[in-house]
Amino acid sequence: MIVVVGSANMDMVLRVQQLPRPGETVCGRGFETLPGGKGANQAVAAARLGAEVHFVGCVGSDVFGTQMRATLQAEGVTVDHLVTVSGPSGIAIVLVDDASGQNSIAIEAGANAALTTSHVDAAADTIAAASMLVCQLESPLAAVQRAIGIAHAAGVPVLLNPAPVQPLSPELLQQVSLLVPNESEAAALAGQAPGEPVDEVLVAERLRQLGAGTVIVTLGERGVYVSTTGGAMRHEAQPVARVVDTTGAGDTFIGALAAARCRDGLSLHDAVAFAQRAAAFSVSRRGAMSAMPHREELVE
Ligand code: RIB
Repeated sequence: MIVVVGSANMDMVLRVQQLPRPGETVCGRGFETLPGGKGANQAVAAARLGAEVHFVGCVGSDVFGTQMRATLQAEGVTVDHLVTVSGPSGIAIVLVDDASGQNSIAIEAGANAALTTSHVDAAADTIAAASMLVCQLESPLAAVQRAIGIAHAAGVPVLLNPAPVQPLSPELLQQVSLLVPNESEAAALAGQAPGEPVDEVLVAERLRQLGAGTVIVTLGERGVYVSTTGGAMRHEAQPVARVVDTTGAGDTFIGALAAARCRDGLSLHDAVAFAQRAAAFSVSRRGAMSAMPHREELVE
């Protein structure tokens, strides 16, 4: 069983011919509201691939909160520890470049900011009984830290996706078995100045020195770099015929990685390859959750 402690957002998605530069107005088309949020996305990605998933988080008392709860339930995610708090749900403004499928996202935390250590404590028995805890950083750090502490004390492996990136203490990183940043998050966590070229080999090594067990740096079309105590390995990217929308591809990778490890018992490198296939599948369809593969689709 996988426990995800994290965010749920309603994504306001608009496709544009080109992502706007500062001061520029561009025309969009095909506006949609779609359930998202890194936590909820990762939970759904794992559930669609057959894993038993429990979600710990907060939604607001608005219609988006009702829709997101219903979506998670419909996807088979257990929501016993999804709390409805008074006020608006988290939202994300997502612009997708029509030609390249690349995106630009801004979020407002809304109800996600209301997740407390008490909410996490209420789910402590579930976290301690999990095969893996999965967290991101769209929820308050104190709540994430508490969840990681509970998992670590119970010997449950912790997968942390440090997004959006923020400074993390070595004490926290030492409790993380699988750290899965993208290139820029990895560089920032390793203390590299913004704008400097990123060497994923050096950055991953630095993050392991800081305490993370295994570091998996996702590199988009350059693949994935995996650094463990036993050595390092690069996985080439999976071919994709046409990239339609990259939103949630990283979340698909993480949910699939967790499912492959916990449900299917795959080795780390086989699980990474499986997760790459799931992520490659997801970029060929629109949206975050809506694009994620079901197990049958991936096997085909
Ligand atoms: O990773 C993609 C997600 O980031 C979107 O669904 C959006 O809600 C933001 O959290």
